[in-house]
Amino acid sequence: MTSLYAVLGQPVAHSRSPRIHSLFAAQVGAQLRYEAIEVAPERLAETLTALYAAGYAGFNLTLPHKTAAVALCESLGTRAEHAGAVNTLIRTPGGWRGDNTDGVGLVRDLRHNLGVAIAGRRVLVLGAGGAARGILEPLLAERPQELVLSGRNPWKPEELATAFKALGNIRPCTHLALKGDQFDLIVNATSAGHHGQAPRLPPGLFAAGALAYDLNYGKAAAPFLEWARGAGAERVADGLGMLVEQAAESFQLWRGVRPETGPVLAALRQD
Ligand SMILES: NC(=O)c1ccc[n+]([C@@H]2O[C@H](COP(=O)([O-])OP(=O)(O)OC[C@H]3O[C@@H](n4cnc5c(N)ncnc54)[C@H](OP(=O)(O)O)[C@@H]3O)[C@@H](O)[C@H]2O)c1
Repeated sequence: MTSLYAVLGQPVAHSRSPRIHSLFAAQVGAQLRYEAIEVAPERLAETLTALYAAGYAGFNLTLPHKTAAVALCESLGTRAEHAGAVNTLIRTPGGWRGDNTDGVGLVRDLRHNLGVAIAGRRVLVLGAGGAARGILEPLLAERPQELVLSGRNPWKPEELATAFKALGNIRPCTHLALKGDQFDLIVNATSAGHHGQAPRLPPGLFAAGALAYDLNYGKAAAPFLEWARGAGAERVADGLGMLVEQAAESFQLWRGVRPETGPVLAALRQD
């Protein structure tokens, strides 16, 4: 019997998740169909009920549903609880269990695909929106020397630093207040690239050997990565690896087997 899964979002037609999950399914010999389904925010709850009744076994959620989905879950994994956002729904007898695989996907991409150690390093996260919330706990768990969280204004970084203070030390600040600081890893967790922009940052932020990482991929990653090359980053990487790694985590939560991500990432780069 074919198992049904889907990513729900708005817009969602551009999503590469159906391609990723069909490659995973072929790799492990699973019979499944994974679709991208456009759902308006006000129709999320009723759509989940209807799709479950139609036989769907699990979902990924993308913008704008990740935060709203928390209230629809019967239980939450700690990653989703700390992030205040859900990107994976797993069906249990009592209802939906929400998890968040975004942060662990980033850390796996950094460690396993890019060979970057976070322990003892100086890390800067740009942006304090939903994606930043999702990656803070797994980044802090790697024990960086320091984690600085910066935004266009101080309020959201301060709010997140307070929310996560039990999990590690986060220094909140504005982008402009970074002047004089240096980092080994700078993660762009803003959506500026979707508007053809990079966050406005002071010069001199990259330490020797530093990596610039953009959670975005494709055209949306170009402005930040271009800026980073010019600003002295020794290496740059987009977020396609994170996308594949977070998908593999979701796949494992649903099906109990973790597909190999390397060949899938290579196939996506060829598309
Ligand atoms: N690779 C993956 O698997 C993956 C997973 C999740 C997300 N993402 C990507 O990560 C990005 C952020 O997602 P999100 O869910 O956090 O979005 P969000 O909640 O809407 O937050 C957007 C963030 O970007 C900042 N921002 C927007 N325009 C900016 C600009 N021109 N200059 C500087 N900062 C700007 C916002 O700052 P203000 O607070 O000042 O408005 C906010 O901090 C998106 O582009 C998304 O596609 C990738």
